[in-house]
Amino acid sequence: MEIEKAAEIGFCTGVRRAIEMIERAAAEIGPLHTLGPIVHNQQVVERLARFGVAVADSLGNIEGGTMAISSHGVGPQIIEEAEARDINIIDTTCPFVRRTQAAAKKLANAGFSVVVFGDRDHPEVQGVLGYAGEKGLATIEVPPFESLSQRVGILSQTTQSFSAFHRFVSAFVEAHLETVSELRVVNTICDATRRHQEAALELARRSDLMIVVGSRSSANTRRLAELCSALVETHYVETAQEIDPEWLGGHVERIGVTAGASTPDEVIDEVISRLKLMQ
Ligand code: F3S
Repeated sequence: MEIEKAAEIGFCTGVRRAIEMIERAAAEIGPLHTLGPIVHNQQVVERLARFGVAVADSLGNIEGGTMAISSHGVGPQIIEEAEARDINIIDTTCPFVRRTQAAAKKLANAGFSVVVFGDRDHPEVQGVLGYAGEKGLATIEVPPFESLSQRVGILSQTTQSFSAFHRFVSAFVEAHLETVSELRVVNTICDATRRHQEAALELARRSDLMIVVGSRSSANTRRLAELCSALVETHYVETAQEIDPEWLGGHVERIGVTAGASTPDEVIDEVISRLKLMQ
């Protein structure tokens, strides 16, 4: 049985950058808070806790000191409120997310409705909506025309799959092109997401079984699992302990392994080691 890792796997540049910025800050200025988990991965959060980095659920739970904004970013209201409360901010917002926020702001300022293709409860989408103000709405279904203005801009959550975004935009054009006067589409899917997905799909096509490693709260890991499961039997695990030896029976000759952008190398290595032991 062969075990192969996807050519692009694990931490993306945005997550690596965010973790490095926070580790450096914790070493230089001591204990600090992150507003929500810095990435959607419990192992990373636990490791940072050992350096004095605590997670606060809301701004109201942070009394002065230093607060780090995660790679998912936040809306401008949160920054203003933190500054008003004299909280020192370390902003680790990923440059790809920042680009999406800037596009939302520009479109909203120009009078466009801003439709964000994505999960409205995800922190990144919440932050982007903050830049769109009253002009913004997040959805994975084509919205009714009554909720839009004559000019519409469409963006995507950075971690959506391109094929799903493509389907959404096509369905939107089909439903509304006759009624909107102007439509702008900005492809804001990040490069790391695209490369991860392409590598996962390439491997899934050649494998009998895919193991996708990462936190269940990680949007990009979930997306990898959805894409792979359309091609081959796929199992989504958070840790090596979740692998069931029964999955490896029968016809399985090649196992492909991929992992989301917030999955640390150690967790991927543990999965590969356990799979090797089960051979
Ligand atoms: Fe940034 Fe894309 Fe990673 S948006 S945090 S590079 S998955």
